[in-house]
Amino acid sequence: MVRALALLATAAVLCHFSSVANAGPLEITLVQKQGVEQNFAGFVRRAYQVTAAGDWAPGARESARVSVARPACNVTVAKTGPANYRTVQAAINGIPGNRGTKLWIICVKAGVYKEKVRVPSTATYVQMWGWSLDPNKVEITWGDTAGTRGPGGSPLGTYNSYTFAVEADYFSAYYMMIRNTAPRPADGAVGGQAVAARLTANYVSFFRCHFTGYQDTLYCHQGIHYFKNCYVRGSVDFIFGNGTVLFLKCQLYADVVTKGYLTAQNQAKPSEGTGFVIREGAISGTGLVYLGRAWGLASRVVFAKVFMSKIIAPVGWDNWGKPTDAIFYGEYKCYGSGAEEGRRASWAFQLTDAQARPFMSSNWIKARTWMPAAGIIPAALP
Ligand SMILES: *[C@@H]1O[C@H](CO)[C@@H](O)[C@H](O)[C@H]1NC(C)=O
Ligand SMILES: *[C@@H]1O[C@H](CO)[C@@H](O)[C@H](O)[C@H]1NC(C)=O
Repeated sequence: MVRALALLATAAVLCHFSSVANAGPLEITLVQKQGVEQNFAGFVRRAYQVTAAGDWAPGARESARVSVARPACNVTVAKTGPANYRTVQAAINGIPGNRGTKLWIICVKAGVYKEKVRVPSTATYVQMWGWSLDPNKVEITWGDTAGTRGPGGSPLGTYNSYTFAVEADYFSAYYMMIRNTAPRPADGAVGGQAVAARLTANYVSFFRCHFTGYQDTLYCHQGIHYFKNCYVRGSVDFIFGNGTVLFLKCQLYADVVTKGYLTAQNQAKPSEGTGFVIREGAISGTGLVYLGRAWGLASRVVFAKVFMSKIIAPVGWDNWGKPTDAIFYGEYKCYGSGAEEGRRASWAFQLTDAQARPFMSSNWIKARTWMPAAGIIPAALP
């Protein structure tokens, strides 16, 4: 069954990119660790395995060989050497219009790109590929905070503190690291919010990407978003906003000294239909960490089948001073020493199979209606 799936996936990749001259599989040697790394390797195999030998190997020591068919690049970005652009933003500014729904693929070679990057709403149907199987080697990095003065002299605010903003529908990125380098804000400090990525668009997805910061790392501001095999690191409210989001097999790392919050979801009314689902994957880190606190009156977050280390506060959730009747916080079949069902806030839910079903379905993010158009192959569906 697994083998059959892999073959189907292979056929899909080859078909999709068959007309492309510089498409090349990339064979690399992955050092496998446990858990999440293995999930990743499984994802890669299912989604992208092809047969030919590749052109890049990191010289890692062992163990599983994984080959990845990358799509053809329409343009490349590199710090040095042959490439179409030297900065990521220049490549984005160069995206041709009038493509209809035809994809535009930007490949970014390994390097540290010190830039504040924005993908404007006109740049639809774009894929961005880090040209390394180690996402940490293709880094986009900046260090603004909410308190940083903008061009007009006033503070940027959280919304504009991003390192990487996506405002275009049907954008996807692969194997990249997005970092906000602002230092850890002191307890109670004002203006320390420092967003690594802000997504204000529909049908935005990230595969095997890393997001790193402290307060407010990942702003899922608006729209339908999908993260698979990603790593998100932060301290306070580090996944936040009003998006309808699925995190599948992601690792959330809480870099917390005293107290932190994994999520701050911002749905105002239950009828809006937004919320975060964190499914499979793992939570680890330091400090005392809440699963979520209610930014919106109808804040909605579900953790399903997630490993939780002992850092999770036994009470689990914080209503942030709001009435609890419209807040929907649920857990379903989570495990690990932080998944202490017995001591959670009385107004939060341990979901039954029937209650969990809508959150366990790929329909949660309407995956099948948009992923093919975004060029995401079926094997990467949730
Ligand atoms: C992008 O590159 C591919 C492969 O070379 C090509 O088939 C496609 O037409 C290009 N896209 C556009 C919009 O030119
Ligand atoms: C949240 O998103 C929904 C759906 O897009 C929208 O109707 C609603 O106005 C948003 N709420 C806030 C507080 O942004």
